[in-house]
Amino acid sequence: MNNSELIRVLPKAELHVHIEGTFEPELMFEIAQRNKIDIPYKSIDEVKQAYNFHNLQSFLDIYYAGANVLVYEQDFYDLAWAYFIKCQQDNVVHTEIFFDPQTHTDRGVAFEIVLNGLKKACVDAQEKLGITSHLIMCFLRHLSEEAAMQTLEQALPFKDQIIGVGLDSSELGHPPSKFERVFAKAREAGFLIVAHAGEEGPAEYVWEALDLLKVNRIDHGVRSEDDPKLLERLVLEKMPLTVCPLSNLKLCVIDDMADHNIHRLLKQGVKVTVNSDDPAYFGGYMNDNFHAIEQALPLSQDELKQLAINSFEASFIPESEKRKWIKHIHAL
Ligand code: ADE
Ligand code: ZN
Repeated sequence: MNNSELIRVLPKAELHVHIEGTFEPELMFEIAQRNKIDIPYKSIDEVKQAYNFHNLQSFLDIYYAGANVLVYEQDFYDLAWAYFIKCQQDNVVHTEIFFDPQTHTDRGVAFEIVLNGLKKACVDAQEKLGITSHLIMCFLRHLSEEAAMQTLEQALPFKDQIIGVGLDSSELGHPPSKFERVFAKAREAGFLIVAHAGEEGPAEYVWEALDLLKVNRIDHGVRSEDDPKLLERLVLEKMPLTVCPLSNLKLCVIDDMADHNIHRLLKQGVKVTVNSDDPAYFGGYMNDNFHAIEQALPLSQDELKQLAINSFEASFIPESEKRKWIKHIHAL
């Protein structure tokens, strides 16, 4: 079996994907039309041309604008269902999906509209495609602590439908410490905890995510490499990093995929995983990310398998499910 075939047949879990980042231009146009909402593009080509980013903020501005056409429960369902079809194509058998409620509630869309649409797609994906999933609600870190606290309050009645909370949006200038009290309350309520840290921000933000937010996983975390003491701790604590190679390239976190540190981190024993982040904007879903690193870096087949094994070990599924998928990978 060559590497391409291996990537195709490997069962994988995706642990870092923003549902608003899976919004393909074709679906964006369709939903904009049926909701009679103007978008600042004349054609799908024009949309794709706008997807030229020089840092995280230049992407976020366009990403939040795209999400403006999502209004009704059916819109959120259609968005998530289209992503689940991509999962099926890439043999992603389990996914833990981020959503940004504040992007929608701040426009007057009710929290329940967003959650119900996404949840219905998750139920259908399990029934019709055999794909399991969890939802993780992210707080927008460029907004206030108070706004995050209000969002947490809104989520409490739906605790059984949301496995965890996360932290995303503009990293620089918005350290994890800003949300220490919100995450303490979320932990008390029983949510699992993740946070974007060390994407554009320094290794110091990863320390804060570990010590102050008490995360179960770090999203991105690639800047941890700047700090040997931090790397030591990540290895010792088996702390997963949800790495997003194409995202890092498109947002200029790295200049060249050959410079990506996912292979170095893997060899040092860090529990790194491969993820797509915002695949509609960054040029590819799960398998595209695997192909991009496989082509640029000298990854062996055992290492490709280890990345898939890591994705299940780092996931929030029951131990018995983890063992089932890992056994399946060892048998390939
Ligand atoms: N929201 C969507 N994608 C993101 C990323 N890569 N970093 C921070 N916030 C995000
Ligand atoms: Zn992300």
